[in-house]
Amino acid sequence: MNETTAPQERKPIIFSAIQPTGIMTLGNYLGAIKNWADLQDQYDCIYSVANLHAITVRQDPAKLKKATLEIYALVMACGIDPQKSLFFVQSHVPAHAELAWVLNCHTQFGELNRMTQFKDKSARYADNINAGLFTYPCLMAADILLYQADLVPVGADQKQHLEITRDIAGRFNGLYGETFRLPEPYIPKTGARIMSLQDPTKKMSKSDANPKAFISLLDPPETILKKFRSAVTDSEAQVAYREGKDGINNLMGIYSVVTGKSYEAIEEEFQGKGYGEFKTAVGEAVAEHLRPIRERYAQLMNDKAYLESCCREGAQRASYLAGKTLSKVYKRVGFLPLEKR
Ligand code: TRP
Repeated sequence: MNETTAPQERKPIIFSAIQPTGIMTLGNYLGAIKNWADLQDQYDCIYSVANLHAITVRQDPAKLKKATLEIYALVMACGIDPQKSLFFVQSHVPAHAELAWVLNCHTQFGELNRMTQFKDKSARYADNINAGLFTYPCLMAADILLYQADLVPVGADQKQHLEITRDIAGRFNGLYGETFRLPEPYIPKTGARIMSLQDPTKKMSKSDANPKAFISLLDPPETILKKFRSAVTDSEAQVAYREGKDGINNLMGIYSVVTGKSYEAIEEEFQGKGYGEFKTAVGEAVAEHLRPIRERYAQLMNDKAYLESCCREGAQRASYLAGKTLSKVYKRVGFLPLEKR
């Protein structure tokens, strides 16, 4: 390359993934997937449905298969455009499992044993503390490192896994020469942390025993309205964002993201009005905001051939990119290649 050649313009690569376990909540959407969609123009985005990760916890095979296609369609309905982004199902790209093995052999027991998610999950699933649950971070590292990702949008619960990814990558590069790019966490500018509607000191969770605590992205409008109307607030009857008003703060946060209104504007809008009116407004705004997602999802689920073609193309493009990194890794560690005939 001579001096007059402009440096190659390259958009930073973003990688993220979601597990196909259970339903997607408003919290998952506003906290993560909406952000995935917003990143598509500015970055080279690669997104995956992490079904290999899902079996670290026992799954019903028929349900897992169904949920994988459903989440694939739902993520697309949330605005992930397979023309703009690379979007694939993890098990369709064998390189993930292959690199994970190599990384397993370059990760120490002690490092994995410090992972707080492993400690939490082995307490929660005490009858199935399998080796996959333990080495889960190596599979996640493989996901990220295969695509030489620059940035990984992750929530607080996955930050430690990104740190270990960097440690593993740095160690591998040190042993064998530059192979992997070290990824940075991507912290979105407006991170929405959506809390339970029934206990606003807890994160909104799909595994909450009380279904009124969370909104499923596919809840019909009447259900959404009902759930917001029964949201837990306080007895002050003043719509204001303030310390100690967890329920109202949560509703204001949700209303703000779906309408684009500032907290000041919301306080003004509901000055002198009761919580009933405010909760109804939030419920209606959310139901309306989710309408195009529900409609697009229904369309997609009615066109399995199209979904299938998106999965297939995603798998092909991902396999090509992942294959490049994997061959480099195999060469570096000394795996005997088969000469091309
Ligand atoms: N472990 C992540 C979760 O449970 C999902 C995931 C798998 C992921 N591979 C990833 C996230 C790579 C970011 C990057 O939420």
